[in-house]
Amino acid sequence: MTAPTFIHTDTNLNSFAPRLLDWFAKNGRHDLPWQQHQTDTPNPYIVWLSEVMLQQTQVTTVLPYFARFMASFPTVQDLAAAEWDMVAEHWAGLGYYARARNLHKGAKQLVEVINETGDFPQTLAGWEAISGVGPSTAGAIMAMGLHRYGVICDGNVKRGLTRWAAIDGDITKSATTKELWALAERLTPRENSGLFAQAMMDMGATLCTRSKPACLLCPLQEDCLAHAQGRETDYPVKAKKQPKPSKFSNALLIKDVDGNILWLQRPDNGIWGGLWSLPLEFVEKISSKVNAKTAAEKTTEIDDISSKVASNEKVYETEFTTAEQIINEWLDKNELIGKSVNKTLLDDAPIKHSLTHFHWYLTPQSLTLDNEQVTDLTKALQAAEININWLNADDAQTTLGLPRAMVKILE
Ligand code: ADE
Repeated sequence: MTAPTFIHTDTNLNSFAPRLLDWFAKNGRHDLPWQQHQTDTPNPYIVWLSEVMLQQTQVTTVLPYFARFMASFPTVQDLAAAEWDMVAEHWAGLGYYARARNLHKGAKQLVEVINETGDFPQTLAGWEAISGVGPSTAGAIMAMGLHRYGVICDGNVKRGLTRWAAIDGDITKSATTKELWALAERLTPRENSGLFAQAMMDMGATLCTRSKPACLLCPLQEDCLAHAQGRETDYPVKAKKQPKPSKFSNALLIKDVDGNILWLQRPDNGIWGGLWSLPLEFVEKISSKVNAKTAAEKTTEIDDISSKVASNEKVYETEFTTAEQIINEWLDKNELIGKSVNKTLLDDAPIKHSLTHFHWYLTPQSLTLDNEQVTDLTKALQAAEININWLNADDAQTTLGLPRAMVKILE
């Protein structure tokens, strides 16, 4: 294999790390609770946990979640032994729930490795074998969690490097990814790769930001090729994403006479796997007249919906879960279909919730059942071994792992 060629001179390449580390020592963040560079005995559990949390989420959002995780699961053994519901409840609101499932699975895998070998994985390949750990997270754990050699090349690093070296290939393409990894490896010092990783993350988060990079404060400004061209924000180059499709559902607030609401635990696979949700009901089509009485401040959202429908953007169908099918049939049998009302929320627009692959418009619908109906519906669901709960809004929020969209509906 031929060695990669770099556009910068060796002098520039060699001075990258010292300049960055000097900036980091003076201006970087040194008080993040998961940082291990000030200890001689780094804790890989802490780094693994925080890196998974930080994969698609900003530091300020992660901080309180990280604190709660560490309080409840101070060791990987605690996390591995926890019930999934507990983990889901701790994760609720952070989004991208597959990460939480991988985290729980990963904890169990780590405990297995520890039981077999007496320690956490000590190699890059060992970490990459853990669920939810990709090459950059594995590099971060090697470097920051074990103080060994590790290279990171996540989204923030890619942004900084495409600018510094004016790499204009599409970063979603594997050829560009390879080029960026090669550059990241060339720049990472053998000693202190953990400090370097943290410094790269800090630079990406605080200086080399997406839309308003603070070039004047940047230690790499003098030989940053994008800066020289005044084209910082043209990088990274990324193929335009297809607009997300939309789907529309009713969220059923099925209540008993005391105001307790029916909650269903979603199947492990699929959206919000293992979390608790209101029963959802697919709505075939939404007319632009729906919610015509909508409060003024919500109209933008409605316009948004109408224009999406008008533009014939693909409208996704919601796949019913088994529980939702049972509920639907039960409502039909009891002639309750169409009896639910958009009651307390009469004037409300659907709640817009954006997931990775689509926008979801959820319209809350309320329906109160008498005691006999509650018993009958509960029996029907339990006969199919569906996990259910009748809980009021407050108790549901404090004791169940609810996805953010459900919290939005309750609020
Ligand atoms: N983003 C991902 N990992 C991070 C870390 N360790 N510190 C700050 N931001 C991060």
